[in-house]
Amino acid sequence: MTSILVLNGPNLNLLGTRQPEIYGHTTLADVEEMCRVHGAKRGVDVVCKQSNHEGELVTWIHQARGVHDGIVFNAGAYTHTSVALMDAIKGTDAKVVELHISNVHAREAFRHHSYISPVAVGVMAGFGTRGYTLAIDALLGHLEG
Ligand code: DQA
Repeated sequence: MTSILVLNGPNLNLLGTRQPEIYGHTTLADVEEMCRVHGAKRGVDVVCKQSNHEGELVTWIHQARGVHDGIVFNAGAYTHTSVALMDAIKGTDAKVVELHISNVHAREAFRHHSYISPVAVGVMAGFGTRGYTLAIDALLGHLEG
């Protein structure tokens, strides 16, 4: 069975209460449940993890090799700073869809650069938390070729 890891980085545990005008009112638990239900409908296994720690995210990307077929990854602010996450994706040849709830390109200039995009299959941004299920579908489409 195809397995997708939905990985969330720093501050995404605050979803629902964090800047709701930007990120909405849906909690991380809601998002994760939505992803699992969507995966079940598509006949794929969806595993969800969140960490505020860059090194832990690096380790989980390493551990995903041979376990998950692809990763939907919202790296949060590490998107804009982390060479380590970029190297982890590149180094494990992980199939990653980069995801942002907000349209990062319509926000501050420092959010326009991503270390993840050059090593990602594609990018989903600006569709709110609905983007997670869209990203799962996009990743499955890519994996199916
Ligand atoms: C984010 C956008 C990032 O710039 C920000 O640091 C986040 C969330 C998003 O989902 O829109 O933490 O990745």
